[in-house]
Amino acid sequence: MDKTYLVTGGAGFIGANFVKYMLREHSRIRIVVLDALTYAGNLGTILPDLDGSRCQFVKGDICDAELVEGLFREHDFSCVVNFAAESHVDRSIENPQLFLKTNILGTQNLLDAAKKHWTTGKDAKGYPLWKPNVRFHQVSTDEVYGSLGATGYFTETTPLAPRSPYSASKTSADLIVIAYAETYKAPVTVTRCSNNYGPYHFPEKLIPLIIKNILEGKKLPVYGDGSNVRDWLYVEDHCKAIDLVLQNGHNGEIYNVGGHNEKQNIEIVKLTIATIYRLLKENPAYRNVLKKKELLASGEIDIDWINDSLITFVTDRLGHDLRYAIDPAKITAELGWTPETDFETGIVKTIEWYLNNQAWVDDVTSGDYVNYYNQMYANR
Ligand code: NAD
Ligand code: TYD
Repeated sequence: MDKTYLVTGGAGFIGANFVKYMLREHSRIRIVVLDALTYAGNLGTILPDLDGSRCQFVKGDICDAELVEGLFREHDFSCVVNFAAESHVDRSIENPQLFLKTNILGTQNLLDAAKKHWTTGKDAKGYPLWKPNVRFHQVSTDEVYGSLGATGYFTETTPLAPRSPYSASKTSADLIVIAYAETYKAPVTVTRCSNNYGPYHFPEKLIPLIIKNILEGKKLPVYGDGSNVRDWLYVEDHCKAIDLVLQNGHNGEIYNVGGHNEKQNIEIVKLTIATIYRLLKENPAYRNVLKKKELLASGEIDIDWINDSLITFVTDRLGHDLRYAIDPAKITAELGWTPETDFETGIVKTIEWYLNNQAWVDDVTSGDYVNYYNQMYANR
């Protein structure tokens, strides 16, 4: 095998897509997934990939110094890709401290283990000497740049101005990664991406939540007036960007990864409704996945209730960032990356995946999800 990767958070949405992407694209790599399996992690997602030789799973917390060091001792990692995080803004508003612990201290703990195991001594000035061909990659977010007005784009030099506990914790993590690069000459890269969508997305985030609610005939909660803008990136395009940065990116560099796909939330919701309606119209077999209670009782197959009247405008998120939009010119110019999946194609692929994988949705929402949903949406 050429390389062994430590992929943290590999049982979550983007991490799992990344594990699958890497195993498919590279035959001579090994991956060790470290994941605490919080509510957002699901071992079933990567179970088919755990073949014992190319990919193995370790359940554990990135904040656990002994565990992480043990993994570094056991495996000859040449790369750490840190996806592990508390990732949901709404949850960060309810419980900020957990975000600070996982996202900041967890990242620092991984960096510390890398420094211990990847350095071989010190140079004349006292800087650690790093083994060749090792890399710590931090998966970050465009939310570190704060909120845009109606115009403009985030570039890598846009000042950091996070506004939510989640984005503040991710910004702090970026800063500690960069501090290790400056202070200890650690070989690091950072990618800051926009909102991902695609298979295996936990249904607390906008798109999978809307899909789930439509199939259950529930109301679709749109925060505020639905005019907030996000820049949607198909998850596989994101995985490809990270792979390119790992292969050809330069140590110490930050790369923005965006989909050129700006949409208002209300547009996303309406497009999702229209796409589900069309897919169910064209392929009546898909109607078997409908879980609307009244339908199940009556045996009805009519789907005309799948329309915009399902939308309900609810109390806005506190401190809701108005607009995110990424300028990915740097990664395009330096590494030749562009987002390949336009939104109209990506949303159909995503919805079809959910229609075909309802067992996965049932599995990941079998735990505390119902309590979460009732608490989060009851007072909106
Ligand atoms: P996710 O919430 O779906 O998955 C996070 C994973 O991390 C889960 O498997 C969870 O079990 C694991 N985890 C959480 N705490 C842990 C801990 N202490 N130790 C070990 N594992 C732990 O998140 P995601 O959407 O896949 O996001 C992955 C990364 O990408 C995160 O760092 C996030 O900040 C970043 N990001 C996500 C998006 C997006 O649109 N989803 C956009 C920009 C950046
Ligand atoms: P989300 O998927 O939580 O991602 P992020 O907050 O990281 O951008 O939310 C995407 C957008 O959708 C955001 O503007 C908030 C909005 N939103 C709703 O309108 N309703 C919902 O139920 C959720 C979860 C999000």
